[in-house]
Amino acid sequence: MSGFPSTDGFNPMTAIPAITRDPGDLQTCHNNSMSDLHDFVGARNYSGFADRYAAAVGTKPHNALYERPAVLSLLPEVRGRRVLDAGCGPGLYSEWLAQHGATVVAVDGAPRMVELAQERTRGLPVEVRLANLEEPLDGLADASFDLVIAPLVLSYIRDWRKVFREFGRLLVKGGRLVFSTEHPAFDWVALHRDRESYFATELVSAYFTGFGEPPHFIEYYRRPMEEIFNSLIESGFLIDRVLEPRPAAEMEKTDPKLFRQLNHEPCFLCVRALRG
Ligand SMILES: C[S@@+](CC[C@H](N)C(=O)[O-])C[C@H]1O[C@@H](n2cnc3c(N)ncnc32)[C@H](O)[C@@H]1O
Repeated sequence: MSGFPSTDGFNPMTAIPAITRDPGDLQTCHNNSMSDLHDFVGARNYSGFADRYAAAVGTKPHNALYERPAVLSLLPEVRGRRVLDAGCGPGLYSEWLAQHGATVVAVDGAPRMVELAQERTRGLPVEVRLANLEEPLDGLADASFDLVIAPLVLSYIRDWRKVFREFGRLLVKGGRLVFSTEHPAFDWVALHRDRESYFATELVSAYFTGFGEPPHFIEYYRRPMEEIFNSLIESGFLIDRVLEPRPAAEMEKTDPKLFRQLNHEPCFLCVRALRG
């Protein structure tokens, strides 16, 4: 999710009772046709929310002073590199990458996000495509990227082995994957401790607060720590660096309560992995 200061300044999201529908229902999406693109978790969450998200993500403390500095700190030199920005949203990362010398292909499953990313990166070496990351990225060649980034998108995808294998196909040997996601401890302790078992990978739901009114309903998949790392390892990646980020020092002045909270307990987890 995207880093959401709460209305009370403590929890970025409010949990609501988990979705009871079998997540397997969502696997009826078999290709990237336009109709399917509106019927998976990520597109349902973001198609009607893209403008609100885009308006906030540049400055929201969870993103600007916590998640993005952590992810950027994990990136290798990007100048002259070919980068896939998976789940690009309104294109902030793509813009940064292109401004720092990379050539970028950006994909997102929400049509309005694609438009926003195109607008933001106009004139830069960024090609933005509409695509569902739950499906093969047909049209992108094997070993055509040096780096794949996937910030705050993977929790909308149930099968990480499938998406990691696809990232592995697209990366050159030794290429890197950098992603951020919800920290499973945060998900469990702050939001979903009422669920039957921490060890499940399951569809849950919550409301984003901090994007104005009304709070925005989202669905996503929570999963345990072992599933995060084993899905990566079993897809041929070597774990290179793990960050449980701390907030940027600047947050102490601008949002002291959140600064204390994020120094006290994790919210996101950031990983850099190497394609073996
Ligand atoms: C929280 S936003 C993150 C956007 C961007 N990475 C950032 O950090 O600013 C999640 C994005 O993932 C996209 N997304 C979710 N599920 C997706 C999927 N299965 N395929 C492609 N994009 C997806 C959403 O449309 C949304 O733009």
